[in-house]
Amino acid sequence: MPDLDSPQRQTPDSLMLTGFWYRALPADRVHRNQLQKVTLLEIPLVIGRDRQGQPFALRDACPHRGMPLNSGKFDGENLECSYHGWQFDVHDGQCQRIPSLTADQHLKVDRIYAGSYPCEEQDGFIWTYIPDPAPQGAGFSKPAEACEPAPVIDKFSSKYKLAYLTADMPVSVDHGIIGLMDPAHGPFVHQAWWWRSRHSIHEKQKNFEPIPNGFRMSAHTPSSNSAPYKLLRLYAAADSITTTIDFVLPNLRTETIRAGKYWFSSLTTVTPITRNHCRIDVVAAWNLFRWIPFGPGLLKFVFAKFVEQDRRTMEMQAEGLKHNPHLMLIDDADRPAKWYFHLKAAHLEAKRTGGEMKHPMTGPVTLRWRS
Ligand code: FES
Ligand SMILES: [Fe+2]
Repeated sequence: MPDLDSPQRQTPDSLMLTGFWYRALPADRVHRNQLQKVTLLEIPLVIGRDRQGQPFALRDACPHRGMPLNSGKFDGENLECSYHGWQFDVHDGQCQRIPSLTADQHLKVDRIYAGSYPCEEQDGFIWTYIPDPAPQGAGFSKPAEACEPAPVIDKFSSKYKLAYLTADMPVSVDHGIIGLMDPAHGPFVHQAWWWRSRHSIHEKQKNFEPIPNGFRMSAHTPSSNSAPYKLLRLYAAADSITTTIDFVLPNLRTETIRAGKYWFSSLTTVTPITRNHCRIDVVAAWNLFRWIPFGPGLLKFVFAKFVEQDRRTMEMQAEGLKHNPHLMLIDDADRPAKWYFHLKAAHLEAKRTGGEMKHPMTGPVTLRWRS
């Protein structure tokens, strides 16, 4: 491990991790018998829903001569390429028909595949599994299988509300993620008269512990820093409120706040779109405010403000990053960012060697900073 006392120079490598599920787009933007263009990890995809409403994801390039399949004709079952009319099953990508073949030409049509990706709908989003690049020749590979289901939000009662927010960020996924876990920008970026100002900066201490593929800010009574916490205080005694924040590779930030029978849960993801572009999606579930009509609207308003402040900041940051400046990570405020880079490197190393992943944290750690 590098010396943690001096500022660490580090340039995010913008490497995008394959072999994981990623949020592709909000479920309410994909309708039956319709197609949507999406880019994930620089892969062009066409995403749609079949006649039954089941989502699917195909590589947006015909295996014949690369025509974007989103320009094709979709009948709710098969997708017909707009160039030479080859037809593909949308779920496994298998070719069904090549119109130019004569009766005595016995090309094995069913051995041809348009690349297809495992696809799931979960908590208001369509998720797509991006496998490691396949070594087989393009056009003949069967769809990869995901080794686990797409991530879900923890819920603690049968009735709850769900809402999402999404924002494009013109920075690499690494900057998106370390911006998300960065505690020191709060008083400068997220100022508001009803919230906090730079004059409210004070010293904080938080406990962290390693978890598989990530780290956890241990369950604690929040120090008044998060928006849902401020709202929750209206419902429960301050000392009965606990919050846990997890970060898990490749891009998952989970926040769980519990106060007696009330709970608030969110799953925020930072999805690599291209090397220099990512998207932040926040999905929240909660069982509070059900009796206040403006509750969900208020919550969404608060979150939208936060995400917009982050987006504007990263837009400006992107200007500075154009010229490849050296970057630093300092202790303790940037320690979570260091863990993120180390986790990523450890994950890739384990994959390369086939061995076990070596977690960068050996045990619980207490971090201190002012924010
Ligand atoms: S390019 Fe798609 S059928 Fe020829
Ligand atoms: Fe922020």
